[in-house]
Amino acid sequence: MQLRNLQIPVGAVFAPMAGLTDAACRHLMADHGAAWTVSEMASAKALNFNDQKSFALLKDKNPHGLYAIQLFGAEPETLAKAILLVKEKGIKFDILDINMGCPAPKITSSGAGSRLLLDPPLCGRMVAAARKALGDDTPLTVKTRIGWDAENLTGVEVAKQVEANGADLIAVHGRTREQMYIPPIDTAAIASVKQAVRIPVLANGDVTDADGALALLQETGCDGVMIGRGALGDPWLFAQVRAALLGEERPPEPTLNQRMAALRAQIYEMCEEKGEWAAMPQARSQAMHYMKGLRGAASLRRYCSMLEHFTDVDRLIEAVYRLQ
Ligand SMILES: Cc1cc2nc3c(=O)[nH]c(=O)nc-3n(C[C@H](O)[C@H](O)[C@H](O)COP(=O)(O)O)c2cc1C
Repeated sequence: MQLRNLQIPVGAVFAPMAGLTDAACRHLMADHGAAWTVSEMASAKALNFNDQKSFALLKDKNPHGLYAIQLFGAEPETLAKAILLVKEKGIKFDILDINMGCPAPKITSSGAGSRLLLDPPLCGRMVAAARKALGDDTPLTVKTRIGWDAENLTGVEVAKQVEANGADLIAVHGRTREQMYIPPIDTAAIASVKQAVRIPVLANGDVTDADGALALLQETGCDGVMIGRGALGDPWLFAQVRAALLGEERPPEPTLNQRMAALRAQIYEMCEEKGEWAAMPQARSQAMHYMKGLRGAASLRRYCSMLEHFTDVDRLIEAVYRLQ
């Protein structure tokens, strides 16, 4: 796939997940074959107020592979100004993504995230403003849902608007805002978005293995898949999907040693990046994902919830080996 001047490697894209997709997590997924990774979302308005924490969410000192930054907002001018500020600060990124899918009330109440889906022309104006601020060279993508609720399945209309105003790709999470993250995704609704536009469309939702990725592509006719939760604790999924897409032999499942080494390295990088005090609460949830399918997983997950210092990770790993 080619987006403007950017050649995209074959593979699934690692979905943005605020609070989870920090630099360590993105680097891990990129190193295992994610086509690109996305920052945590930052508020266009907060960037306009020069909020340093928001700039920090976007700044990756050493991005691995292609790196997208994601902004959310509800006003075209504020979004455009935020993009100019990010460029002025010299923050490195390959792709700019606009969040039109976040269902959280604290985001939608300001008119941003999935709330934009109730106003497709505004979605178009957001993209037009972003495109102008970004210039012609950098790919601009939109992350969206199939609609706001069952009465407002506006995904197709939004896709047409954003395409007409300069978006290069749309990633569609196959649920409405009302559905949040729970019911099965609507593959037919994703397929309708794909059929409505000529730019590439990524299908997103509930992929946990390579066969699931292939099935989703077949059912939706999409150009690629985006994977979020399924890759947590399982970065090897990206190599599996890449092999499946290329029709190559699938790599072997990771050994226990590889899994524990990846867990330790990820938490180590988190501690290096933000300090042990800030990293360890987030490390607990990351560690839990690595316990999937292990003997004694329930008690190991309890162990994960008590991680306080980096040295506790080694004790957790010892407990894992004791129980297998
Ligand atoms: C904890 C969490 C945080 C998320 N944060 C974002 C976000 O910041 N931006 C965004 O576009 N989507 C966000 N999402 C949605 C995911 O990118 C993705 O669309 C959704 O999880 C469905 O894909 P999956 O089943 O592969 O996880 C988030 C999802 C979760 C579970």
